[in-house]
Amino acid sequence: MKPFRDMRLAEAFRIALSAPDDFEGWRDAARRMIRADVPPDRIVWESPVDQSADLFAQGSRRLPSPPVDAPQPRASKSFVQYAQSVILHSDSERFSLLYRMLWRLQAKPRLMEDKADADVRAMEDLARQVRRDIHKMRAFVRFRVVEGDAGEHYVAWFEPDHHILRANAGFFVRRFTTMHWSILTPRGTLHWDGEVLQEGPPATRADAPSGDPIEALWRQYYASIFNPARLKVGAMLKEMPRKYWKNMPEAALIPELIAGAQAREAKMVEAGEQDFGEQPQSLAAVGEAILACRRCEIGCNGTRAVMGEGGQGAALMIVGEQPGDSEEAQGRPFVGPAGQLLRAHLQDAGIGVDRSYVTNAVKHFKFTRTAKRRLHQTPTAKEIDVCRWWLDGERALVRPRIVLALGASAARGILGKTVSVQKARGVPNLLDDGSELWITTHPSYLLRLEDHARADEETRFANDLRNVAARLSELSGQG
Ligand code: URA
Repeated sequence: MKPFRDMRLAEAFRIALSAPDDFEGWRDAARRMIRADVPPDRIVWESPVDQSADLFAQGSRRLPSPPVDAPQPRASKSFVQYAQSVILHSDSERFSLLYRMLWRLQAKPRLMEDKADADVRAMEDLARQVRRDIHKMRAFVRFRVVEGDAGEHYVAWFEPDHHILRANAGFFVRRFTTMHWSILTPRGTLHWDGEVLQEGPPATRADAPSGDPIEALWRQYYASIFNPARLKVGAMLKEMPRKYWKNMPEAALIPELIAGAQAREAKMVEAGEQDFGEQPQSLAAVGEAILACRRCEIGCNGTRAVMGEGGQGAALMIVGEQPGDSEEAQGRPFVGPAGQLLRAHLQDAGIGVDRSYVTNAVKHFKFTRTAKRRLHQTPTAKEIDVCRWWLDGERALVRPRIVLALGASAARGILGKTVSVQKARGVPNLLDDGSELWITTHPSYLLRLEDHARADEETRFANDLRNVAARLSELSGQG
């Protein structure tokens, strides 16, 4: 007699999905099976790249039809969001895990809140690995140019760990809309001709070109942004694992840059560009530390530093320039007139300020005193650059998916260089941690305008915020 488990598998239903990232296919089949009351251990899930090794499942049967009056399965929003990421993982058990969770959710609708549950933890782990892979692809894809019949064509080779190619397609289309490009991977290919995106079969490394003049530019760029004082080899390897190096022209510079790091650090210290050691490990610790910061003249002007406000893990980080008179008095960012205008626009755009992290590029209030008032003064580039240390620390702790910079000082605080707000607005920049930077005007600028000019600029500002809101909900849909 066969053991019990084998008998059950012999009676298993085999469900073949059309693609390894076929979320809709999985969801439709899973709903049907829940409604037909089929327990998790009676289903074998497959996709074209996740074939079942379970021989006993081969005698599978037609899928059952649920009773017409069977209720629709229930699933919390958070489960659906996680499931959309988890399905992209390369672990062949992911479909079963998701079905088991959906099965359990019918009896325990708040299961996702149980962070100690092994299945919930497994889902969170898989989703985290997928998110990381998505970020890595966005950060490490490098195009090489080839001359095609229709002119220049950019081709990149990338080896994702998971089935993230399709999920990342929109990002590359938006980022490189005007280029003609192909991204080749062992899991499939994407081709964009400026208008239409097409998917193709898996490729091999040999299908992609190697070496071209763009590489020299990347190398130059990388050498210029490399900060020897911040060099932590372990952390660098974590962020930029060696497996990606072979496709990244700038990686050829890494050994050389590490070797020269000490000498360059000594030079930077001499030039007054010193590093400030370990970053505080919590937002509360940053808040404490900035109170005592005297690294620039503003920090020494006797005002109190104003810390950012909002939760660690907020999807949106909003960065202003510096606290104003009211902010310094109350010790909170954006509570004065510019803050009120900002909050009204955020509300109109459907962005919950309570679900965002709001902070400033510079933590102290720079002003000149008149008989009656303290008048705002713009911080210098150097002051913003010194304070970047704190802003970087907040960003590393909050880990937002989108950073919204209000005005040129905020943009410099994030990027470390001056950009034109009018040119940069509306087009997101990818930051080193995979988050996106969106730039718009500062609400104080709007307050200084009058009549038509004010109305026009407020319309543009509102439009920028609506784009950010749309992108936020797109990203939250990706888990
Ligand atoms: N302006 C800013 O840039 N930040 C504030 O906190 C208030 C006004």
